[in-house]
Amino acid sequence: MISISRNITSEYVIQFGKIIKLNSIFAIEVLHMRTTHANVWKHKPFEKNSFVSNEVHLSLPFLKKGKTKRVLDVACGNGLGVSLPLLREGYNVYSFDKWKASINALNKNAQKERFKTRARVSNMYKKFPYKNAFFDSTFCFQAIYHGSLSQIEFAFKEIKRVTKKGGYFFCTIIPYYIKRDKETFFFNYTRDNGRIGRIYVKVDKNDPFLCYNLAKNCEYLVPHYYFTKNKLRSTLKKYFKEIDIRKVARNDKCISIWFVRCRI
Ligand SMILES: C[S@@+](CC[C@H](N)C(=O)[O-])C[C@H]1O[C@@H](n2cnc3c(N)ncnc32)[C@H](O)[C@@H]1O
Repeated sequence: MISISRNITSEYVIQFGKIIKLNSIFAIEVLHMRTTHANVWKHKPFEKNSFVSNEVHLSLPFLKKGKTKRVLDVACGNGLGVSLPLLREGYNVYSFDKWKASINALNKNAQKERFKTRARVSNMYKKFPYKNAFFDSTFCFQAIYHGSLSQIEFAFKEIKRVTKKGGYFFCTIIPYYIKRDKETFFFNYTRDNGRIGRIYVKVDKNDPFLCYNLAKNCEYLVPHYYFTKNKLRSTLKKYFKEIDIRKVARNDKCISIWFVRCRI
């Protein structure tokens, strides 16, 4: 989720959680590569970096209890977070992502383990390319919040449409951990030296929960929608039932994520 480079005048850049000295040619090349999802999947398809989720194991005990066969991974990235672990469990996994680079990375990772993929390019904020009730369960990890509330609700509606009644929907969502310092807004992260750093964000003028990253090489201006637990529950309640939300810690002690399990 956090992958930062400081601007070119800084002595060091932080990229994929590592501090790199700027006087190396590699670091300068890295600075030319903007840290977008598409760039990361294109240049480092096999990497388990901060864009790759770690929480899918929390859903497996629930799937096993049901008659799950066919599952959907929305916004799959390089697949190492959700699609691959589900393929290893023997499920028929369908995946999609907005970027061709993600699908290529997923296919490369799947080929290594000789898995067949059913992956395509698609936008989760537009009608999903599947029939009603096609999936037994659906996943969307570390991604659904890259839009406005109405876009997120559109994706929820689509997830409800393509998933069978009684099936599960699992997702991870970022909690509202935005802080304010006078006129600026930011969230904290832990630097490699253990000190706390700040990522500044711009708050949307119409919705205080919608923010855009201001770190130049960290998902620059990509929308991130931050949910409080109450708001998350009330939004999910419009579309799903049996909602369970729990906070899961991440490697960085400043960062956590809501793990959501609910039913159609
Ligand atoms: C942080 S990565 C998460 C990847 C994977 N779900 C995981 O948890 O390991 C976010 C992914 O969301 C995808 N994404 C962002 N906006 C999207 C959209 N509107 N439709 C589909 N995918 C999108 C990005 O391309 C990226 O691969």
